[in-house]
Amino acid sequence: MESTILRVEGFSAFFGAHQILKEVNLSTSNNLVTALMGPSGCGKTTLIRCINRMHELIPGGKVSGNIFLKEKNVYEMEPIILRRQIGMVFQKPNPFPTMSIYDNVIAGYKLNGIKRSKSDMDSIVEESLKNAALWNEVKDALHRKGTFLSGGQQQRLCIARALAMNPEILLLDEPTSALDPRSTAQIEELIVELKKTTTMLLVTHNIAQAARVSDYTAFIYLGEIIEFGPTDKMFTVPKDKRTEEYLTGKFG
Ligand SMILES: Nc1ncnc2c1ncn2[C@@H]1O[C@H](COP(=O)(O)OP(=O)(O)OP(=O)(O)O)[C@@H](O)[C@H]1O
Ligand SMILES: [Mg+2]
Repeated sequence: MESTILRVEGFSAFFGAHQILKEVNLSTSNNLVTALMGPSGCGKTTLIRCINRMHELIPGGKVSGNIFLKEKNVYEMEPIILRRQIGMVFQKPNPFPTMSIYDNVIAGYKLNGIKRSKSDMDSIVEESLKNAALWNEVKDALHRKGTFLSGGQQQRLCIARALAMNPEILLLDEPTSALDPRSTAQIEELIVELKKTTTMLLVTHNIAQAARVSDYTAFIYLGEIIEFGPTDKMFTVPKDKRTEEYLTGKFG
C-alpha cells in the first residue's frame, strides 16, 4: 500500500531577507526514492535542513509553511524526537573518527541514551551493516576505527548508522559526490536495494543518477519546484522548458 511519508506544503525558507525556498510543495511515498535535482545554489540542501529542523539554528534562518512526517507536523514536534526519525547522510562521509565501526553503527543509540542489551546491539549492528551492504567487508574488523575504511565504505557505514535508528525516511544529500565511480555505483545499487524497506529523498545534481535510481523527481530552480513527477516521464517529456534545458545540459 502506498502511503505518504513526507509532505511539504507551501514551504518557504529564508536567510535574513534573502528568500531561498519559495512556496515548495512536495511529497514522498513509502519505499520510493524521490530525487531532488537542480543546479548548485538552488536550495536543495536548505530544503533537507528544513526537514530535520537544522535550518532554524542558523542566525537569520527562518521558515514558513508546513512539513508533515507521517501526518505529524514537523514544526510542532520536539526537534530531538524528530531527528531520531530522520536519517541523514551527507556529501562527505563523516563517521565518528574516534569510534570503532561497531560503535559508529550504534552511535545514535549511545548519543540518545537509548539502552539495549549487548545481544540486541550486536544484532542491530549486524543487520544495519547487512542492509548497508557492508557486513561482508567489515565483519572481522568491527572493532577497528571506521576511518580505516575507504571513502565508499565509510559512506556505507554512515548509511548503516542512519538505518540503525530505523528512520521513517532517509535524506541523502549528494551522497556520492565525493566518491569514485566504482563506489558511486555501489551506493546507487544499495539505494535501489534499500527501496524495499526505506523511503528516501536523494539530493543530486547528477541527472544520470536521478534517472538511474529515483522513482520520482523534483526539479528545483532558484528555490522553486519547477516540476515534480515520475522520473521516467519527466526525463522523456519534461513539461517545463527550464526542466528540458536542465536535462539537456543547457545550464547547471
Ligand atoms: N548560512 C547561509 N547564510 C546565508 N545564505 C546561505 C547560507 N547557506 C546557503 N545560503 C544560500 O542559500 C542558497 C541555497 O543554498 P543550498 O546550499 O541550499 O543550495 P544547494 O542546492 O544545496 O547547492 P549545491 O548543489 O551547491 O549543494 C544559496 O544561494 C546559498 O548561497
Ligand atoms: Mg547542497
